[in-house]
Amino acid sequence: MLKDKNILLGICGSIASYKSAILTRLLVKSGANVKIIMTSDATHFITPLTLSTLSKNPVLTEYSNPGTGEWNSHVELGLWADMMIIAPASANTLSKFAHGICDNLLTASYLSAKCPVYIAPAMDLDMWKHPSTQNNIEKVKSYGNTIINPAHGELASGLIGEGRMAEPDEILGFLQQELKKKLPLRNKKALVTAGPTYEAIDPVRFIGNHSSGKMGYALAEELSELGADVTLISGPTSLNISNKQIHRVNVTTAEEMLREASRYFPTSDITIMNAAVSDYRPKSVAEQKIKKATGEFSIDLVKTTDILKSLGDIKRKDQILIGFALETTDEEANAIKKVKQKNLDFIVLNS
Ligand SMILES: Cc1cc2nc3c(=O)[nH]c(=O)nc-3n(C[C@H](O)[C@H](O)[C@H](O)COP(=O)(O)O)c2cc1C
Repeated sequence: MLKDKNILLGICGSIASYKSAILTRLLVKSGANVKIIMTSDATHFITPLTLSTLSKNPVLTEYSNPGTGEWNSHVELGLWADMMIIAPASANTLSKFAHGICDNLLTASYLSAKCPVYIAPAMDLDMWKHPSTQNNIEKVKSYGNTIINPAHGELASGLIGEGRMAEPDEILGFLQQELKKKLPLRNKKALVTAGPTYEAIDPVRFIGNHSSGKMGYALAEELSELGADVTLISGPTSLNISNKQIHRVNVTTAEEMLREASRYFPTSDITIMNAAVSDYRPKSVAEQKIKKATGEFSIDLVKTTDILKSLGDIKRKDQILIGFALETTDEEANAIKKVKQKNLDFIVLNS
């Protein structure tokens, strides 16, 4: 979800700034491009070297590079960002945000930012409770910024109370949820089938096909990126799914694929049937490995259930069902026939 997003991370002078290193790592791992602006006080708490190494970008603290005189354009930084996060936000910087004070690169970039701004305050409990801090919080909220509330717990001072900066993984989850709200497939459930099925002949042999599963896995990832809640029913493949939001169900045979697809289909808004399901399976499965014999050998095959058709038969009007067709002759006509026969909304024709 954060893949290729430009994130401007502002860091203020607080003990909690050590958590910014972990947050940076999590953002980069999620595929985001991260640029960091530190206040000069923040550099007393954590080094720019650590953060530039983790973010893979130079850390900026000044309006210009003292060596070259090059301008660190707060205007460009503000325009570059898809999201700005200030974590930790000190009481001091919060107050500057509330009053439009613009005396360093971070506050100037904040004023230039056109993107959503998320502020994760960190401070001692009495600083947090102070009416001026609370007024500033209300003010920055009224400008359209979002506060990621601090938690209750032990503070750097040794006191216990509210003021601990939200944990980096909570901030990451918060940002992901925020992005999800804006995605076109939010609140939609998607079901994807992928890969081949294996139909056993005996304990060591099977009838399968060359499907790699790559297409179905890519579709599942894309649907998830668009905000859908995705279930992926996968035949045997060597693929891994890196997106932890995708619920993967492993199956082997066409019968198992049918069972799982029938289980998830009724609650699915969008179903993409991409698996290469075997049309036939051996009539009976030998209990022991079949010994090599002289002469010819044949296996009786029986038809498997047509999963796409059985889902098409029970499809409701509010559901979308998409099939795939691999045709070698009369491609278009055959694909159109399949759409009608199986009550599909769309078909992807491979030839
Ligand atoms: C050890 C130490 C810890 C501090 N922790 C915090 C803090 O968690 N939150 C905060 O608002 N200020 C904290 N301060 C005070 C800020 O560093 C100070 O207000 C500073 O001017 C903030 O500057 P900045 O907003 O430009 O980063 C701390 C100061 C020290 C010396």
